[in-house]
Amino acid sequence: MSAPLDVDVLRGRLVGSFAKLDVVAATGSTNADLRREVVDRAVLIAESQTAGQGRRGRGWVSPGGGLYLSVLFRPDGVPANRLPWLTLLAGVALVRTAASVGVQARLKWPNDLLVDDLKAAGVLAEITPAHAVIVGIGLNVARLPPGVEPGAGGLRPTSLEEHADGPVDRTEVAVTLLGELAGLERVWREAHGDPERSGLLDEYRRHCGTLGRSVRVELSGSQLSGTALSVAVDGTLVVRDEAGVDHAVSAGDVVHLRVR
Ligand code: BTN
Repeated sequence: MSAPLDVDVLRGRLVGSFAKLDVVAATGSTNADLRREVVDRAVLIAESQTAGQGRRGRGWVSPGGGLYLSVLFRPDGVPANRLPWLTLLAGVALVRTAASVGVQARLKWPNDLLVDDLKAAGVLAEITPAHAVIVGIGLNVARLPPGVEPGAGGLRPTSLEEHADGPVDRTEVAVTLLGELAGLERVWREAHGDPERSGLLDEYRRHCGTLGRSVRVELSGSQLSGTALSVAVDGTLVVRDEAGVDHAVSAGDVVHLRVR
């Protein structure tokens, strides 16, 4: 069993970068809880969730030993069309965090954290009507119990612990993840959300394991197959289909296909 998160350490090292930080033993969903929050840079972390929410209406299995957290950002100087970049930014923070414990991870567009083609973390970002964004991150730190079903496209779960150099301290991982998130978000916000000027687009592309791959994109009610060519300045994934036509994908599940 993992040691509980140390809230004093978390607050001591992160309040300043964040306005407030709470840790609860259990809740339904930290994203759902933060829908009632108004304070910019508020953080809620749960030791476990009973109704964790994933992308595209799926659930997120959230037993003890993982990190389940949501942050409310209100980036007032950022135009609405750039807010979706926060979801990609969270993916970059996850890659840096994995590297801090010796795990080389890649991103499957938009923000699934993959280690050896297994999923270690996911991000659910929600834009609220009040120009705020709730960034929810689920990171498997300790090994999951048996029986967790694969996600979209048959993607099987993994955890940092299974790939790290040594024992992984969840409080340290949370400090690193939230510290990276705060640092990236501050630079991006100061650049008014410009992904090029903030350096975010370049770093995202470097970490994105989808680029250059044969993919299937599962859209609501249809599918698209082709090669993932680039991530555009608006954060969409550009996929060239078999007829040579380029499609900008803004939502959907990307499946990395194995080349035979
Ligand atoms: C995905 O489907 O890959 C996204 C999973 C996001 C899960 C996190 S856990 C913390 C936050 N609260 C939720 O209910 N969901 C997100």
